[in-house]
Order: sequence, then structure tokens, then C-alpha cells
Amino acid sequence: MDGRDLVRSVRMVRAVGAAQGLRSVRAAWRRSRADARALPRRGAERARVPGEACGAEPLPGGGVIRFARASLRVRVAAGGAVFCGWDGAGPEPSYALAGACPEVDPRVVLEPDTGGGWRIVSERVLVVVSRYGAVEVRTPGGAMLRRELPPRWWDRVAEGAAGGPVDGGGGAGPEAGADGGGPCGGAAGSRWVQRSEVAADARFFGLGGRSGGPRLRDGVYRLWNTDPGGAFRPGDDPLYLTMPVQLVVADAGTHLVFHDSSWDGRVLLREGAEGAGSGHDRPGTCELRMDGGPLRYWVLAGTPARVLAGWTALTGAAAVPPRWALGYQHARWGFGGADGVRRVVAGYRERGLPLSAVHLDIDHYDGHRVFTVDRAEYPDLPGLARELGDAGVRLVSIVDPAVKAEPGNAVYDGGAAVDAFVRDARGREVRGVVWAGESAYPDFTDARVRKWWGALYAERLAQGFAGFWHDMNEPVSFAAFGEPTLPRSARHDLEGRGGDHREAHNVYGLAMARAAYEGLCELRPGERPFLFSRSGWAGMQRYGGTWSGDVATGWPGLRASLSLVIGLGLCGVPYSGPDVGGFSGVPSPELYLRWFQLGAYLPLFRTHSALWAGRREPWAFGPEVLEHARAALRERARLLPYFLTLAQLARLSGAPYARPVWWGAPRDRALRDCEDAFLLGDALLVAPVLEAGAVRRAVRLPRGRWYDTATGRAYDGPGRVWVEAPLSRIPVLARGGAVLPVAGADGGTELEVWAPAAGRTGGGVVVPDGGDGWRRPAVERFTSRWEGGRVVVERRDGSPAGYPVRVRGLPGEGGGAAGG
Ligand code: NOJ
Repeated sequence: MDGRDLVRSVRMVRAVGAAQGLRSVRAAWRRSRADARALPRRGAERARVPGEACGAEPLPGGGVIRFARASLRVRVAAGGAVFCGWDGAGPEPSYALAGACPEVDPRVVLEPDTGGGWRIVSERVLVVVSRYGAVEVRTPGGAMLRRELPPRWWDRVAEGAAGGPVDGGGGAGPEAGADGGGPCGGAAGSRWVQRSEVAADARFFGLGGRSGGPRLRDGVYRLWNTDPGGAFRPGDDPLYLTMPVQLVVADAGTHLVFHDSSWDGRVLLREGAEGAGSGHDRPGTCELRMDGGPLRYWVLAGTPARVLAGWTALTGAAAVPPRWALGYQHARWGFGGADGVRRVVAGYRERGLPLSAVHLDIDHYDGHRVFTVDRAEYPDLPGLARELGDAGVRLVSIVDPAVKAEPGNAVYDGGAAVDAFVRDARGREVRGVVWAGESAYPDFTDARVRKWWGALYAERLAQGFAGFWHDMNEPVSFAAFGEPTLPRSARHDLEGRGGDHREAHNVYGLAMARAAYEGLCELRPGERPFLFSRSGWAGMQRYGGTWSGDVATGWPGLRASLSLVIGLGLCGVPYSGPDVGGFSGVPSPELYLRWFQLGAYLPLFRTHSALWAGRREPWAFGPEVLEHARAALRERARLLPYFLTLAQLARLSGAPYARPVWWGAPRDRALRDCEDAFLLGDALLVAPVLEAGAVRRAVRLPRGRWYDTATGRAYDGPGRVWVEAPLSRIPVLARGGAVLPVAGADGGTELEVWAPAAGRTGGGVVVPDGGDGWRRPAVERFTSRWEGGRVVVERRDGSPAGYPVRVRGLPGEGGGAAGG
């Protein structure tokens, strides 16, 4: 047991009690014994690199290049996405891809390159494969975006094979930069390493939800979905939702690389350094070491918007939450029964505070058993749901995957009857420990099991729940030592291919989300499901969103919440948000308020806290906080049409609601390093207060005119300006020329327009609310310009706007423009 294990055990025993603590010792012991028995021992391995190229064969979209000891398939899709698969690895099967693999671009040509290599020439990217298997992805103009060095595998040597482990690197040639291990010509259990170089000025983002970003600094990032056990702080790694997706931003261009293997791995990042005119730049490097899975990856290049659009085309459009899920929501572990819920909801009503939904945590279950209700505390849940519904408040239910393994528990009996639970290598049901005690785990990688699980949501719908909050699905099994999850040797169906938890672990939460989403679509075909999940993987957005998990209460936790939302958005998961106020402890009134003010501009705006933590209602922090929180809630409600538009745009284009400030200007290096603000869509720049005591803050502006929305004062970017940030609000700036939909005083939509700078034009889009079904409203596009001394707003085709228009930022509103 190492130090981390000890801390985790102490936290765990505190959280779950002594009886659970004992069970978790047993579970951890069982887990390590099962793995020791069933996992293959490392044994003899032979290191292998591709060796020298010996031929190539053109194929649609590119071709296959053969090396002495490996082969590489390069395939460029019609939209410009490049697929590289070593040793016969194809794009499918894949948990990340949305559907059929995209069509190839038939115009792509494969041609010999100088030095014995090959080039794959397409309209959007140039791929150069060297004689020894390095793969460069270049812009059509030739600028290098990424250079993957020849990979290295560690192939297992069959028992009794002649000779011991052999390092095949001898013939690797000068480019064999990799010195670590790697798997095997597609054999799932082999390890591999892939080292790559990016430009010296490049910045790394992504890898799923990381608390220390959004810019990923030098360090090791693990690819293994993990409950950190207790509240996490910036720098704690890994967390609940990891994915092998990196977004790399450099002067030469932006690219996304996705290594499609769900196995455990480590990414070692090192930013480059420029030689300050000496010409000796040190490139940025990324080394990916995977415990298994095919060596295959996708690269998408272009502007950030193009890259995210391509990623969405590949992995699926983001589910659009229903309108109410874009409003403010209140969760609590330990409401204290139906009356406790009523009291909290009445508290919001009496104070005139808008509230969209209430989330019930595991304490509403009967003995923590999923899909049950504690009838003593919630004697008439459907009645409570109706009562709240009449007041415009929806109920959301937590759903944990683990099922209490107890004959007589209907969910367990039903699952056992269809053989739904994960088994070990000897065919026995794997038991873990969670809140309810000894539990079994549905194998969501089996379509049959997904079907069974999806149908269970009928019970939740009958109780009156409108949305679902998936938790503990990394999946967690409390462990006194070792990893708090299932044994790595546990067997999974993996869509009929068969495999073990080493491959299934990272996609467990994703597959659970799929089960729920598909089940809900069948149960309520007229409604878009609403679900968000703590764990997930590439493609999670197809089914719903996520949230920050148990972020520690404290100023660093506030910063970490923003990092998670931005990072996940860049990996294609646009809907997320933190536990406002932090999960653990008691925030100071100031910290609570600053968190609340940030949350008001994030897609998922939800207060939540642990059973043992303080309250999170806005009135729990004194009258001043209440008034300022009220203002934030009102502003959120006013911006609802804008959030609805952003949700639809995320579906259509992959652009996240909350974007890094460099989104439209990735070459602006100062913006690239700015991590304390974000763009909310195209129109707004939100600059949260992340430090105690601050009442003004510096804001880094992109190019163009920006208005402080509170004062109307204009600033001209690019540059850094100081803006007021009194306790009553955080700075929000609007882009000159922006047209955004907001709720007018009568509740109807109106257009808020920010005057373009003199001689400039602007515009914006509106996607009207199409209801909570599947109707897809058309995108309406608007332009703004100065004409004869006034600002004119029209539809793009020149027709009248058709909405009431309110122009802001006119001369006199906030004084003249200040330079950035
Ligand atoms: C862990 C989740 O992250 C948290 O939000 C929830 O309150 C607890 N589990 C209890 O269900």
C-alpha cells in the first residue's frame, strides 16, 4: 500500500463507514488475487520497430506502406481527416466513431518521396511517410504540424520460441526516436509507444477532463478513468473522464490527434522552446505509451472551428439538452426526504429565484439500491414530481451502475436472469463494493445488457424523473488498497469480440450512457433525453454531457472547474459544469459567489455538495451574496435563448459553448496562454474572478472592439485591459457588432446588438427554441452595420430582423473606446 492508497483508504472509510471499509478491504484483496491468477504474466517480449520501407500499394484515400517488420495504412477521408493504422489496424471497430467510417477522398494520391519514403497528397493535408516509418502531417503548403516518429512495439514471444527478447531497434535507422515499449502488430495485449514532435511554439490541450489545464503543461497524464477518492484539486491526475484526444495549437496551424485505443496509457508532454533567433528551436514532444490496443490514430487539421467540426463529424453530434437543462439546477446529497426538497424549492420560490431542476442523490434510494426509492423519506415521488413540475421545476435522478448483489433485489434478479453482470476469468460474477454494499456490475459493452439496462429507466420515468445523472461509472469499487475499480482480468463482451477490463474500463461510462440514451429514446420517443455522466470517453457527447465530479471547495477548485469545462469542450464534449461552491467543505461567501457567477455562464449551471459539506442555497451566505446571486440567476435566464442557440450550434458544428479565448485567433500567442477567461459563443467574453479579494482584474482581449456589458465602456483589442469586477458581478465583455438572442421583458426573444466599431460590420446567429422534442429549427443569420448614423440589423438575405432589436454600446453609453 503506498501513500496515495493510504490517503484514499482513510477518506473512503470516512465516507462510507467502517462496515463498508471492511468490505472494501476484502474487495481489494479479491481484486488483486483475481488479477494475479488470471492476467498473463509479462513474460518474454521482443521489441520491434517498422524497419526499412520495402514497398507501397495505392488504395482508396492513400495506401499501404510496407516496412521490413510492419505495415502502415494511411487513409484520408473526404473531409480531410487522416487515419493511420499500423499492422492492419483499421478504423473499426471503435467506441469513438459515430457510425460508419467516413468515405475516403478518391482524389488522394500516393507517390514516392525522396529518400525512400512516400507521400500521400490530398487537398487539405500532406502526409509524408519516411523510409523508416516516421509520419509527418503537413499543411498543403508544407508547414509541419506533427511528426510521429517510428513507433515501437513490444510483441510477446510465444513460450518456447527460439531466442530471448530481442531488441529489433538495430535496423531502425536514424529516426527511431522511441525507446520505450509498445504492442504488437495488432495483438491486443502488446504494449507500444509512439513519440511525436510538434512545433516549438505549440501548446497542448485536451486529453479529456484535466484539472490542471486547460493548457497542459509538461508532465505525465494518465489515460485511465479514475475516481480520485474524495475531492480533487488542480493537478490531481487522472480524473473521471480521460481520453486520448489532444488538441495542439501552433502558429503553423491547429490539429487534433486521437489515438483510438481504450487501454491504459500515459501521455508525457513537453512543450518546446524557441531558439530566440538562434535557429535552434526545440520541438514540443509527446510520448504516448499504451498498455495495449491497436496502434491507430486520426489527425484532423485546420482552424480550431474546422478541427472540432471534423471531430464531430467523426464521433457524432452533441446531444442537445432540453431547454430546462440550460437553466439553473440545484443538487444535494442529503435533502432530508421529500419535505427537505419542498423546503429548498420553496426557498427559491419565496425569494423569487429561478430554479429549473432539483437533483436527487443516492440518499433517495432504498438502502442505496439503484432504481429504487426510499418510501419512508419519499412516500409519493410521482406526486412530488408533479407538484414541482407545476412550479416549473424538473426532477433529476442519480443513477449508479453497480447493482446490490442480493437475491430479492429486483434489479439484481432481473440482471442475473439475463446474465447481465461482468464475470471473472473463471466465469464467476465479479463483486465490488459501493454505497449499497456488495454489488455486481452490468457489462455495458454487451448490446443485450444495454437493452436490459435502458429499459430500467421506465421505473425512473414512472417516478417522475425528467433527467439522469450517471455517477460512479469509472466504474468504482471501493478499495482499501490498489485501484478502486474492477479487476483488470474481469471479462467483457466488447460487442461480441470478447476481452477484459483492461480494454473495457475506459469505455464503461460511455457504454452506460449509450444504454440509457437508447433506452430513453425508446421509452419517450418524443423527447430528447437529458443525461450527464461523470465518466466517459471519446464520443461521449452523442449521449449527453458531464460534470466536474468532486471538485474541492477552495479557490484552486474554482480554477480547476474552468479548466475541466474548457478542456472537455476541446475534446468534443460541450455540455459540462462544476459543482458550484465545490463538492467538499464550506466555501466562504465570497468564494461561493464567485463560483456561482462563473457557473451562470457555463452550460451546466448546478450547485451541489457532499453529504458532509455545507449548504449551497444562495441564501445560505448572507443577504449580500443572495442579491448578487439573484442578479447572476436573472442574467442566466435572460441569456437562455443564447444558450439554446449555442447548444444547437454545438450539435451542428462541434464548437463548444465555452471556448478558449484563442478560438478565433490561434496564432495570437498571448491569447493561447490565457487560461482565466473564455468565450461564450462568438459574442461574449467571460472573465471570472478566480482570486480572493479581487474587485478588478486584467482581461486579455482578442482583436476588435469589446464592450464591458455592465458599463457599456468600449475597449479595442488585441491587448490587456483592466476592468472592474465588484462583488456584484464578474466582467463580461461583448464583441463589437455581435447580435445575440436574449429573453425580453415579456419573455419573448429579442436581439441584443452591440454596435460595430466605426467602419466595421458584425453579425450573429439565432437558433429558435424548437421545444424539447427532435424538431431541428433552422439557423437564422443576422448582420449588423452602421448606416446613416444608426446601427442597422437585418437577416443575412436583407430582410427585416423579425425580432425586437436593442442596440447597446452606442456613443455616450460608456464613454469612448480605450486601447487594449
Ligand atoms: C460521487 C459524486 O461525484 C457526487 O456528486 C455524489 O454526490 C456522490 N457520489 C454520492 O452519490
